[in-house]
Amino acid sequence: MAIFKKKLPQELTLSDIVLPEHIGIIMDGNGRWAKKRGLPRSAGHTAGAQTFRKIARYCSDIGIRYLTVYAFSTENWRRPKDEIDALMKLFKQYLQEAIRDFKDDSIVLRFLGDRSAFSPDLLALMEENEAESKDRDGMVLNIAMNYGGRAEMIHAMRDIAQKVADGTVKPDDIDEQMVSDHLYTKGEPDPDLIIRPSGENRTSNFLLWQSAYAEYVIMDVLWPDFKEKDLDAALIEYAKRNRRFGGV
Ligand code: IPE
Ligand code: IPE
Ligand code: MG
Repeated sequence: MAIFKKKLPQELTLSDIVLPEHIGIIMDGNGRWAKKRGLPRSAGHTAGAQTFRKIARYCSDIGIRYLTVYAFSTENWRRPKDEIDALMKLFKQYLQEAIRDFKDDSIVLRFLGDRSAFSPDLLALMEENEAESKDRDGMVLNIAMNYGGRAEMIHAMRDIAQKVADGTVKPDDIDEQMVSDHLYTKGEPDPDLIIRPSGENRTSNFLLWQSAYAEYVIMDVLWPDFKEKDLDAALIEYAKRNRRFGGV
């Protein structure tokens, strides 16, 4: 990349690099953050929610077009009931605030995942946030809640299979574009960069189809400790990567 002609990679700042259009973040490490402090896991989620608010705003400020955050996976229902209850309470509280909170930044809110598992009041808040923000012109913020890449693909397969059964789609017509158009991220570009704080080297079922050529940056920092400078570091690491998309 041309950016290296004048500067060494360690000297780069955000103004020297091309930013990704779409960033995904697996907001991981809340539980470990709380444990280190002798606090209940729910305290880690509360701290993580503050980080989410700060980093979402920062991404919008620096000109990121799409940010997708992984807030709750289809597998997270396996956690103890008190932790799930605390998370649902936090989501509700956040979504009540989000309507006002992201207004000044013109952020568009969308939710990815199977909504049928959520309580009617949480569902109503999700719909209200989407409806209120849909005509804004700022960053699109996707919040993945009860999201799983496999469940998303099953959902897409069922929709397409139904169209085949109805005779509106022929099996040979099914291509990558059609599959993409049946995912929760329909109409959005694939993520360029996926950041996973907390040091785990796995996808944990996040954006499986969409991340085919995403650059992964794994960081040791726990999500509640994640700062703007950590995002900068991930962006600079991303800019150093040579994306080939299967070419040479
Ligand atoms: C991520 O933090 C938040 C959710 C999965 C809801 P964790 O709760 O997974 O934190 P660790 O991985 O146990 O530290
Ligand atoms: C992924 O983290 C899900 C979210 C951050 C919402 P997990 O903590 O659930 O993932 P595993 O269990 O370590 O793979
Ligand atoms: Mg975790």
